[in-house]
Amino acid sequence: MQTAVTIHAVRVQVAAWRKHGERVVFVPTMGNLHAGHVSLLEAAKQHGERFVASIFVNPMQFGPNEDFNHYPRTPQRDTGMLAAAGCDLMFTPDVAEMYPNGADLAARVEVPGISEILCGKFRPGHFQGVATVVAKLFNIVTPDVAIFGEKDFQQLVVIRRMTADLCLPVRIVGAPTVRESDGLAMSSRNQYLTAEERRIAPIIYRELTRARDALLAGARDFARLDALGARALEAAGFTVDYFCVRDRLTLDAPRPGAHELVILAAARLGRARLIDNIQL
Ligand code: PAF
Repeated sequence: MQTAVTIHAVRVQVAAWRKHGERVVFVPTMGNLHAGHVSLLEAAKQHGERFVASIFVNPMQFGPNEDFNHYPRTPQRDTGMLAAAGCDLMFTPDVAEMYPNGADLAARVEVPGISEILCGKFRPGHFQGVATVVAKLFNIVTPDVAIFGEKDFQQLVVIRRMTADLCLPVRIVGAPTVRESDGLAMSSRNQYLTAEERRIAPIIYRELTRARDALLAGARDFARLDALGARALEAAGFTVDYFCVRDRLTLDAPRPGAHELVILAAARLGRARLIDNIQL
């Protein structure tokens, strides 16, 4: 596996592959890799011949009181995992390489509407930071295909819309959420959980599953399902940001007869803010 820390080095390598007609598949990450990230690289193999992963903890997508400084950084371990997963090129820029004038003064990409609901309501500016860094990474790597985890479902919808609206020549592919054996969705932020919180955390998935089963059995009172899920999480000790059934494509409140649905939850447990979803 090659490594690059500059935009120039990535462009030189990708141009060489393109000359040979090789398709480039890109997996953007913030590092601290786990089996969920490895599954993205596995998914990448169905879509091309060359695989690029980036590791960049993007300051623009963290709010002033969020965990940018404490976000787990494990570069050595990540390098080994990417090499073992068959990655061809690992791009690890520093903040100055990505934001030479500083993140605060950098041009931004805004995807209105979808960025302000759900997680956007609780993390103002977050999706602007995500859309901006992903657009920049796409311009640097120029991938044919980019893979994103479905665990960050709203992020995936924002990126799909940004890519379509800006006519970026990249195909966006979502890959299924990887879970621990008790159902907890894998996330770097699970490390923030104490032993007691870790025991409680899978209740998010349990409640999503319960709502999914109710919908599959014909329940259509979405507001009731939202309230039941939120109440169960609060009773287990979570502080709930939202628990709701939404249209799978738009993330709007679903029309009464809708079948393309996703149930999304975000809830805080101690230091950790956990998000998860189930699609129907
Ligand atoms: O999902 C993530 O890890 C990040 O939001 C991403 C897509 C790498 C952008 O920083």
